[in-house]
Amino acid sequence: MTRVTRLIEPVRTAPAGTRPRGIRSRIGWIFVLLTALAVAAYAAVPYFTASLETLAGSPGLAGDYVDKPPFVQAALYAHIAGGAVALALGALQFWKGLRARAPRVHRWAGRVYLAGVAVGGLAGLVIAPTSSAGYVGFFGFTALAVLWLVTGWRAYRAIRRGEVRSHQAWMIRNYALTYSAVTLRIWLPLLVFAPLLFGQTPDFDNAYAVVPFLAWLPNLVFAEWLIRRRGLPSYRLPV
Ligand code: HEM
Repeated sequence: MTRVTRLIEPVRTAPAGTRPRGIRSRIGWIFVLLTALAVAAYAAVPYFTASLETLAGSPGLAGDYVDKPPFVQAALYAHIAGGAVALALGALQFWKGLRARAPRVHRWAGRVYLAGVAVGGLAGLVIAPTSSAGYVGFFGFTALAVLWLVTGWRAYRAIRRGEVRSHQAWMIRNYALTYSAVTLRIWLPLLVFAPLLFGQTPDFDNAYAVVPFLAWLPNLVFAEWLIRRRGLPSYRLPV
């Protein structure tokens, strides 16, 4: 048994003072898994089955990229491929049964996941400055990409050092950021159509100006809450 296998295999019981994970966590995980797979398929697959020109008339941002330089278009494709792989694989990594019964699968899926994050994150840094959300898109998506890369790196470094609980905490943060691809697509239609409640017309531009931050900031707060609830090492600001 390798060193890393030994580190991953034990299934821990919740430490004193924390509640054991039950049916609610399982339902939550299944919801995350299904929504992640749905968005990976719905948002990403069209880009690999039709050209940007063909997609330009359909919902999504493909039309904004038709006239962009080839390296930006290439970065968009790399970003979507890396992001979709990470989104689809990442949720499976939190399946305790897989970690306990097939640690090799967990390790290999983890490497592919982190490669997806690296490719998706670096390519995200290239496309963020061209975002149709302007400065908010630039700052919001760039911050997200940097945090995505840094949390992925910290998760990898923790497991290489044998710090399993720290690895779990960093992976929860990292996947909360990956999952912003889903939360963005939940927030966006809600915000676009919210003006209807006040008798006003739906407004895409206004809504899209908020999501570059709203897509991930609440996810990070939720991740930190989950980490504390599970008794994992939570983040402390240096004092
Ligand atoms: C978590 C870090 C992520 C960052 C920083 C990020 C950043 C970006 C940026 C800047 C754009 C272009 C937006 C614009 O032009 O206004 C974009 C588009 C896109 N991203 Fe991501 N993204 C992330 C995660 C993901 C994931 C996990 C997926 C997986 C499906 C994904 C799929 C897409 C798709 C499909 C588009 C094209 C937009 C559309 O047609 O709806 N992204 N992303």
